[in-house]
Amino acid sequence: MKVGIDLLHFATANYYLGLDTFAAEKNIDVDKFYVGIGQEKMSIASPDEDIVSLAAKAAAPILQKINSSEISAVLFATESGVDQSKSAGVFLHGLLNLSNRCRVVEFKQACYAGAAALQMATALVKANPKEKILVIAADVAKYDLETSGEATQGCGAVAMLVTESPRILEIEPGSGYYTDDVMDFWRPNSRTTALVDGKYSTKVYLNSLKQVWEHFTESTGKSFTDIDYFCYHIPFTKMAEKAHQTLVRKAGVKLTQAQFEAQTLPGQLYNRIIGNSYSASLFISFISLLDNLTSNIENKRVSFFSYGSGCVAEFFTGVMQPGYQSVLMTEKHKAQIDKRTPLTYIQYLEFHQQMGASDENIVLNINNYGPYRLAGIKDHKRYYEKMDN
Ligand code: CAA
Repeated sequence: MKVGIDLLHFATANYYLGLDTFAAEKNIDVDKFYVGIGQEKMSIASPDEDIVSLAAKAAAPILQKINSSEISAVLFATESGVDQSKSAGVFLHGLLNLSNRCRVVEFKQACYAGAAALQMATALVKANPKEKILVIAADVAKYDLETSGEATQGCGAVAMLVTESPRILEIEPGSGYYTDDVMDFWRPNSRTTALVDGKYSTKVYLNSLKQVWEHFTESTGKSFTDIDYFCYHIPFTKMAEKAHQTLVRKAGVKLTQAQFEAQTLPGQLYNRIIGNSYSASLFISFISLLDNLTSNIENKRVSFFSYGSGCVAEFFTGVMQPGYQSVLMTEKHKAQIDKRTPLTYIQYLEFHQQMGASDENIVLNINNYGPYRLAGIKDHKRYYEKMDN
């Protein structure tokens, strides 16, 4: 039985900060960002946007195409949870009017949790083919001002419907995985911004890639040349480039520059202009690959490297299904990116200061264009609304 991703859609915020604006404000050569870390823009969440509103925007177009009462579980992966106890997925369940005959749970392990949720959804459907599982990976990547991480913020949510006989990608059995208790990036409960040991985190990321590759090749018998396209967790696109160079060296293969770029570049285009979205970034990379390739890649194999600081990593593969192009939502993705509004540096500072800063009573101004937004907080409870647009 084939199991995997049947439908796939992402959402990002309505605003972005250009790294040219950022560089000018900080008096830094913009090529440090355009070339050095490979980023152009960061999607910035307004105060009335969070992982729940982003997740609802990501999931709604999928639910319009199916009988949403059949969703049997929502597995919600995030680093930027909105409550220490209640799963963000339960807020989403209410907002999207899903069936009460559904289980909802939140997954956490920094940027890795989306891959964990996808693997567990696949296993659940294999155990019971009637299951239709909504996997969400959603994050707002937020660092303190004037820190090394500030230029690598962003936000986004990916919704994936996992079913038997999937129309987009069959997830293949077998993977390589790795855990090591390290402090490269973390966020104590009291903080809304992550702490990071930036340079160290890039080293741990690359070491984890080598470890999961060894495990993956040993446990599946597959080799580099069995894979056609490579998607990576992308905190910034230069990291994915370094990851692919590392994998090519590790696997002992020789590639021309054109082959190297063909395997990875289309899967970086969206991430370059959205920024980091932690648990969602690997899957935004996959969507970027599908939306930006000009050729049909039916029956081709795509690999996924998920890395979550702290750290847990996994390398797995999937096979593109015949006819997949007919169910892609490319136009919706492109329109959403194109209609974002640029922020001035001062507006960015205002959003940064307010976003997720407090759980005190507040009625939030409408900045988020919808169709879902965080309306306010009352008695420490978050209230979401659907807008008529
Ligand atoms: N023109 C071209 N290139 C330039 C340049 C210029 N004018 N100025 C600088 N550069 C290059 C540098 O040479 C450097 O290249 P290399 O990495 O190849 O050496 C690159 O631009 C970055 O410059 P710096 O090292 O000086 O940048 P920095 O000190 O500001 O930090 C960073 C970079 C550590 C990645 C920082 O952005 C950071 O802390 N980011 C957050 C942490 C992160 O994303 N880690 C990734 C791995 S962990 C993970 O993946 C989980 C997660 O999502 C967080």
